[in-house]
Amino acid sequence: ASDMNQFKNILVTGGAGFIGSHVIRRLLKEHADMHVVNLDLLTYAGNLENLRDIESNERYAFVKGDIGDAALIAQLFVQHDFDAVVHLAAESHVDRSIENPMAFLETNIIGTATLLHAAKNAWLGDGKDASNRCFYHVSTDEVYGSLGAEGLFSETTSYDPRSPYSSSKASSDHLVRAWHHTYGLPIVISNCSNNYGAHQFPEKLIPLMIRNIRDQRPLPVYGEGLNIRDWLWVEDHASAIDTILHNGASGRTYNIGGLNEWRNIDLVHALIREVDAAMGRPEGTSLELITYVTDRAGHDMRYAIDASRIESELGWKPSIQFEDGLKETVRWYLDNAEWMDSVTSGNYQQYYETMYGNR
Ligand code: NAD
Ligand code: DAU
Repeated sequence: ASDMNQFKNILVTGGAGFIGSHVIRRLLKEHADMHVVNLDLLTYAGNLENLRDIESNERYAFVKGDIGDAALIAQLFVQHDFDAVVHLAAESHVDRSIENPMAFLETNIIGTATLLHAAKNAWLGDGKDASNRCFYHVSTDEVYGSLGAEGLFSETTSYDPRSPYSSSKASSDHLVRAWHHTYGLPIVISNCSNNYGAHQFPEKLIPLMIRNIRDQRPLPVYGEGLNIRDWLWVEDHASAIDTILHNGASGRTYNIGGLNEWRNIDLVHALIREVDAAMGRPEGTSLELITYVTDRAGHDMRYAIDASRIESELGWKPSIQFEDGLKETVRWYLDNAEWMDSVTSGNYQQYYETMYGNR
């Protein structure tokens, strides 16, 4: 099916991060006349290594900068006449938000407002036609709070964020909707569950565990390991974003999920099986590394997504079985030891030791 909207000049924010790098790669591949500008501050989580295979593509340009830098953003809008913004830049790690919430408010709230303001100035007013523009905010299922054993988050679930991270993302969702309702800015929002795959910074659960199993270091499981997350292959998230950008209705929200719930402890067991097997160790070797540690403060119990809207309205659904995705993911991290070591050197080492000691 052909796309409802066509975009030629796209600003992607946070494109040097985990999901953003997959999104840029996908957009360039799927849309032969699309030009992408990647604006990224290259915080600890951003790494140009994630984009090495496309850095010489003539339809791609990188700008190092802060989404909160209003002058820079205004200048980029003039220079490139963006018809779409795909906004992924954020502080994204819940544990860091508990330690240092202000950075989250700065980037996720003020940064998003700065981008909205720039898009409004560039696209609206003076008889301008904004009907083929789109401000796309990439958000999270964590805005809906925490589920018990039953139920799913849908697009109409009330917001109930509980961590500094999730409340900063909820705030930014509200701002995006406010700019739509008040000024008429064309927007879409998607709220997605936990992503996994290549290039995820190894302080998030899956790459952290793969790395520690590889190195035979302790595996820190928070609380009793009974919290549940709904895992989605990052390339499926990128395909969903591509679909929503091109075919989503302005002002609408879409939930994206994998229908793939795992208790953390079961996932750690699965990773132990995969990594031990890939490294030729006897089955069960790394089970003894599991270490139950103090729970995350305010730890949300369960997330699970009802993704029926995006399937029925836009025809999107996840493409890959979790078992296959997990195998491929383990393979990627083991084959890319250099990436893992380079992104976790320097500043990260200090952070890790402060947060986790040597566990
Ligand atoms: P990430 O932490 O891997 O990447 C974030 C990127 O944003 C990095 O490249 C970083 O350098 C950049 N950045 C941070 N602050 C910036 C600033 N002030 N200006 C410009 N760039 C800045 O995050 P991710 O996991 O790829 O998540 C991307 C987006 O998707 C986030 O908005 C996140 O809330 C959302 N999301 C993530 C998941 C997930 O499972 N990882 C799920 C749902 C939604
Ligand atoms: O649901 C979407 C969200 O998923 C995104 O919005 C966030 O950006 C992304 O980081 C992710 O948040 P989580 O907090 O769910 O992801 P994380 O990988 O940090 O943790 C997954 C689960 O594993 C969670 O229940 C906490 C637990 N955990 C995590 C770490 C890092 C552990 O038990 N041990 C650990 O060392």
